[in-house]
Amino acid sequence: MAILPIVTFNDPVLREKSTPVEADSEELQQLIDDMFDTMYNSKGVGLAAPQIGKPIQLFVIDADVMTQDDDDEEDLGPMVFINPVIISTEGEDLKMEEGCLSIPEVRDDVSRPFTINLIYKDRNFNQQKLKAEGWISRVIQHEYDHLQGVLFLDYLSAFRRRLHRSTLNKIKAGALETEYPIVPKLQVGKE
Ligand code: NI
Repeated sequence: MAILPIVTFNDPVLREKSTPVEADSEELQQLIDDMFDTMYNSKGVGLAAPQIGKPIQLFVIDADVMTQDDDDEEDLGPMVFINPVIISTEGEDLKMEEGCLSIPEVRDDVSRPFTINLIYKDRNFNQQKLKAEGWISRVIQHEYDHLQGVLFLDYLSAFRRRLHRSTLNKIKAGALETEYPIVPKLQVGKE
């Protein structure tokens, strides 16, 4: 078990296009376990590999925390997505508030399609097909964006972004205190 530091929005690794995962390995399985530990420790519902500094096509989610009171949504539990491809979207766009572990304390509305169809490999490298709706669909789309070098900030208007400027500057300066480890770390006592 390891809790890894999460890189923040200004890190160039979050702007890279992630490369496919070629093969299973002990290191990969360890990384997946560490990503779950890191995600749960930071109370996140999803975490993409670039967020811990590895630009590979891998993310994990556990959206159950958000669906506990919602009987309409399926409880899918912890899920691993390797080399995912969203093949189609359905339904009208829905606006909902999002946050990101790489952009602590910043939350804003993002419009996304309600339903997605995607293919991916699970952690056993079995090919899977999934139709996801609602909240889980949103979490998957957010993490999928991370693999394309896209952040939810990119969807905001210049006006909305400006409202978050002071928090963003704090994050950049490593001056924002968070309840989970981030990079840049708080530079305590450094001149
Ligand atoms: Ni994120």
